[in-house]
Amino acid sequence: MIKISPSILAADFGHLLDEIEKTVKSGVEYLHLDIMDGHFVPNLTFGPELVKYINGVTDLPLDVHLMISNPLEYLEIYTVAGADILTIHLETIEHPDKALATIRDLGIKSGLSISPNTPVEVALPYLEHADWLLIMSVHPGFAGQKFMPSSIDKVSKARQYIDSNSLNCEIAVDGGIDLNTAPKVAAAGADIVITGSSFYKSGDYAKFVQEIRKATSQEN
Ligand code: DX5
Ligand code: ZN
Repeated sequence: MIKISPSILAADFGHLLDEIEKTVKSGVEYLHLDIMDGHFVPNLTFGPELVKYINGVTDLPLDVHLMISNPLEYLEIYTVAGADILTIHLETIEHPDKALATIRDLGIKSGLSISPNTPVEVALPYLEHADWLLIMSVHPGFAGQKFMPSSIDKVSKARQYIDSNSLNCEIAVDGGIDLNTAPKVAAAGADIVITGSSFYKSGDYAKFVQEIRKATSQEN
């Protein structure tokens, strides 16, 4: 069964607590928190204080997606704030193996992400150090963008590499995921879908979760 991680960035921040409670009740596996610094990506979101607040109001595992330059400087801060999975971008680090090992040493799961312009082959050698690979299917920076079909082939290649090397790395896809695109990435071998706009615009989150599960199980 595909796992779902809604991106809180697309929620109604004016009613954040209510949104989190409704998200938890919908039956998803994770909560996705997009951290942007206005430098690695042309947008700014929130920081560790909000992660800490969210951690205090839900037991859902927090999947924290760091779209920031110099992520090494912030690994401990976000771990203390409550991240259960900390994902860093390959484009922002010189030694991905060491960075991923540092995250694991902090006692949480390590994630490695690649932006659309980064070939998946560059990430494969590091997957033995990663608990999940986050393949971006939009350019990082904003919710509500159109899914890039080029990400499907990346998922297939990563799936093949992970399986043939018996690695324990899950594949997540992030950006433009909806009822039409989720089955495509699931069929290619994704384990987790991250969904912002389509989830929070659906109105009935529990129904949306059921629909995604149904659509993706037909493909598998
Ligand atoms: C994009 C973020 C995504 C985004 C997902 O930079 O990393 O997580 O919020 O939102 P949708 O599903 O609307 O593309
Ligand atoms: Zn994200």
